[in-house]
Amino acid sequence: MHPVKRTLVTTALPYANGPVHLGHLAGVYLPADIYVRYKRLKGEDVIHIGGSDEHGVPITITAEKEGISPQDVVDRYHRMNHDAFRKCGISFDYYGRTSSVGHHETAKEFFLEIEKKGIFRRKTEKQFFDVEANRFLSDRYVTGTCPICGNPEANGDQCEQCGTHLSPTELLNPKSKLSNATPELRDTMHWFFPLGRFQEALEEYVDTHDSQKISPESFEKEQYSVWRPNVVNYTRTWLKQGLSDRAITRDLSWGIELPISDREAQGKVLYVWFDAVLGYISFTRQWAAQVGDESLWRAYWQDPESRIVNFIGKDNVVFHTLMFPAILMAWNEGRENGIYNLADNVPASEFMNFEGRKFSKSRNYAVYLGEFLEKFPADTLRYSIAMNYPENKDTDFSWQDFQNRTNGELADTLGNFIKRSVDFTNSRFEGVVPHACSDEEWNTLGIEWHETLGKLDQAFEQCHFREAVSLGMEIARAANRFLTESEPWKVIKTDPAAAARTMALSLNLCQALSVALYPVIPDTAGRIRSMLGLEGSIEETIVCGQSLFSGLLSPQLQQGHRIRKQSEILFTKIEDADIEPELKKIERLLAETEKREAGAALERLTFKPEISFDDFQKVDLRAATVLSAEKVKKAGKLLKLQLKVGPETRQVLAGVAEHYSPEEMVGKQVVLVANLAERTIRGEVSQGMILAVEGQEGKLFLLEPSGNDINGNQIQ
Ligand code: 2FM
Ligand code: ZN
Repeated sequence: MHPVKRTLVTTALPYANGPVHLGHLAGVYLPADIYVRYKRLKGEDVIHIGGSDEHGVPITITAEKEGISPQDVVDRYHRMNHDAFRKCGISFDYYGRTSSVGHHETAKEFFLEIEKKGIFRRKTEKQFFDVEANRFLSDRYVTGTCPICGNPEANGDQCEQCGTHLSPTELLNPKSKLSNATPELRDTMHWFFPLGRFQEALEEYVDTHDSQKISPESFEKEQYSVWRPNVVNYTRTWLKQGLSDRAITRDLSWGIELPISDREAQGKVLYVWFDAVLGYISFTRQWAAQVGDESLWRAYWQDPESRIVNFIGKDNVVFHTLMFPAILMAWNEGRENGIYNLADNVPASEFMNFEGRKFSKSRNYAVYLGEFLEKFPADTLRYSIAMNYPENKDTDFSWQDFQNRTNGELADTLGNFIKRSVDFTNSRFEGVVPHACSDEEWNTLGIEWHETLGKLDQAFEQCHFREAVSLGMEIARAANRFLTESEPWKVIKTDPAAAARTMALSLNLCQALSVALYPVIPDTAGRIRSMLGLEGSIEETIVCGQSLFSGLLSPQLQQGHRIRKQSEILFTKIEDADIEPELKKIERLLAETEKREAGAALERLTFKPEISFDDFQKVDLRAATVLSAEKVKKAGKLLKLQLKVGPETRQVLAGVAEHYSPEEMVGKQVVLVANLAERTIRGEVSQGMILAVEGQEGKLFLLEPSGNDINGNQIQ
């Protein structure tokens, strides 16, 4: 890594299509905020850029459902989410919107530059068109029966029941979500970004961030640029499969119109992901204009000594490690100036679950940030969530854990120590620091300052936030222990000087804690400062180029410094009665989910309507033998099988890859529906279907007819 002059931190732009919940906060916004606050403490030049993702089909679906305009939808949720983030202390330097004029200009500028260079490919494809609604249907607007599992309500992009990624033309019996009519296939032209053209350059880019590829000599220098294993692995899976063309336009009315007048561009907008990632750039430009230096954004994006860190959730990885870098490479190609830097780190989190289950907006199983902050203070939430940061694996947020941490760690340990220090100094030492603490004394408190600060620095810089916050709380525990064991309330009777020394050291520890814990509990840190009688907020004290953090190496409060007369209770304990309604709410939600699941199970028991013998006779079932089996690219659930059916060989795609390995399949006798119309799935022809039955937890079992010399025979 170069010596870093400045850092640009970005956070994934949440869709302005619903309120952000605690899962979003845990994975992206809180870790990013802790990181930027830490860097500010160190006196570094850092900005935090975020905002709302205001395009995309789900927003138009919400608008249509509610009978309002997409603009109304995004106005509502942009305001709501921005407000919730503010209340939670997420300190954005700029929080933009992709519906803004400035963003549209940036996105168009990128499109035009890449178009001008002839990098895009135009391709005509067949797409469903709703004749009644007179418009092309994007994937999400088509529903139908899943060709893999038979779910009658699969979406055009994915079947939620079996998880297979689909394209709308693969659905059986497709219907338009707009009119419920059967859509027809029509030709439409789209712009494609040739991701494969950048395959090699992207591989080189990933190599420079892969711990397996970085040479041991440069490892220390590059340690903050090493991507997490989940980020590298996920990206490599895509690279191994080979990158292909991605459509970057859609036939929609909501989004960024193509900035060209060709007839074919009419009625088309940019694909939401193409424009969203560029939001990071347009919002940095808007930030620069706001701070009064229009060109300042270039320092963050185009100075090779600056560093970019994108905080995201694991579902956004390839857009940030492949798509966005490739767009920037396309822009940079052949240029001598105005060259954009690529992200140096992309800390993608795993998911934080809630009381053992995944957050789900559609099932309304979530705790929304805004609602939470109406009941409990932001810092208690920030602390609990930081302690549950899903860095390498999914974690869980529970009310019980939240109550325990607030009461035991924040109130009993930290809050109690601060209050005792301030109160005793006020009652016995007239509210002034009663002793000049030396560095030697500072190093007798049971805290190895040098070592602890080194560890803290590593933990923050490497985004190990749980470790960083735990180290901060360790200092609070040591401080509490020191005060309790020193017993100044007893000692003062026999040795007032020793008691004075204890209190001066304790007050200095309060100050040190306000700094060390500032990134995670900034509001509390400010209140501690104010109790200590320190002027100005921490933010006002921060000076670029000077590290407040290194001030922890020695005591900062001078003898005679006057603290505030009144202490305050930093954390109110959470009573069982406070969280009882929340626990009841979960019980209710879980009961509803169970009822829904039981309903679905019952539905599975309901037989299909009667058919005649003649109808049944139409189905040609045959005993077939699997000759070979292989996985299908980009379709983790599918196996491509070659089946011997009498004299013929048939190719059939089967959604069994998660239950049977290709090797296990070879040689099996299976039941083939031999006269099912041929279909193309993932670009592969499927000539029939093999039968399986579902067992517990979705496990599939193949129907395997046994017997000698049955291959090709009819099953009757
Ligand atoms: O997954 C999402 O919520 C997307 N709106 C994230 C976009 S991140 C960035 F590219 F803008
Ligand atoms: Zn399915």
